[in-house]
Amino acid sequence: MTAARATALFDQVASVFDEVLPFFTGFGQQHMEWLAPVHGTRVLDLGAGRGALTAAALARGCQVTAVDCAPRMVERISTQHPQVHEARVMDAHQLDLADGCFDLVCAGFVVHLLDDPAAAAQEIRRVLAPGGVFSFSVPGPVEDAPEWEFYGALFREFQPLIPVGEGRLSRPLDEERFLATAGFTNISETAIEQRLPVPDADTFWNWGLSHGSRAFFDALPADARTEFEARVRAELSTMDPIVFAAGASLWRGTSPA
Ligand SMILES: C[S@@+](CC[C@H](N)C(=O)[O-])C[C@H]1O[C@@H](n2cnc3c(N)ncnc32)[C@H](O)[C@@H]1O
Repeated sequence: MTAARATALFDQVASVFDEVLPFFTGFGQQHMEWLAPVHGTRVLDLGAGRGALTAAALARGCQVTAVDCAPRMVERISTQHPQVHEARVMDAHQLDLADGCFDLVCAGFVVHLLDDPAAAAQEIRRVLAPGGVFSFSVPGPVEDAPEWEFYGALFREFQPLIPVGEGRLSRPLDEERFLATAGFTNISETAIEQRLPVPDADTFWNWGLSHGSRAFFDALPADARTEFEARVRAELSTMDPIVFAAGASLWRGTSPA
């Protein structure tokens, strides 16, 4: 079954997702500013989570449908964003939505988690109106933040301790090829960043447990997890203040008319 691991993981973190630090909210706002949909645009937020993109699109007067494979995420979207047109549990690989009914499909930090991105892209093409836009974000580089290189390096160092098929859901993705192979045209990309103040080391560690990286920590042997945490805390103790620097890449393509 596709999306089974994603559903289990994101249901597990739904109650705290994007609440420890407003990481996804900040990127969702920047993403929607880049897309700048006009009032009344019919938007599908695919893998909507707690609704970072949904909230930003609603603020622009869009008509938003939000779908996610994790039922607890969808419950929270419905509660927190009652203006949403529809919020439904759905797998991105098999959309229970009519052909051509959206002007914009957006997906924040989702595509690189999918079991079969190409299959999802065909579904996205199907539900987009001719000339509609598909846009997604993925984690990206951040400029001028050498003090945060340790965090990615720790994941790479500890990765071999995790059995194959467990740990983080993310997979490498050639974004441009993914869009082009699915038939999208006018492909473009931009890089964005944010700097998030972090009150203390506990908050940063808890943030790591509040989203997708939770799967990595849960898959580590207990002693390795303890060591990972200690090394994160040692690095953070050298920072005053702690300001988390993170980057993302935004991509968009147009569905042929
Ligand atoms: C990292 S979160 C991002 C959530 C939100 N888009 C945001 O930017 O805050 C990824 C979301 O994608 C959802 N997801 C992962 N695989 C999915 C699939 N196959 N179908 C639908 N949703 C999926 C997860 O349940 C999770 O809510």
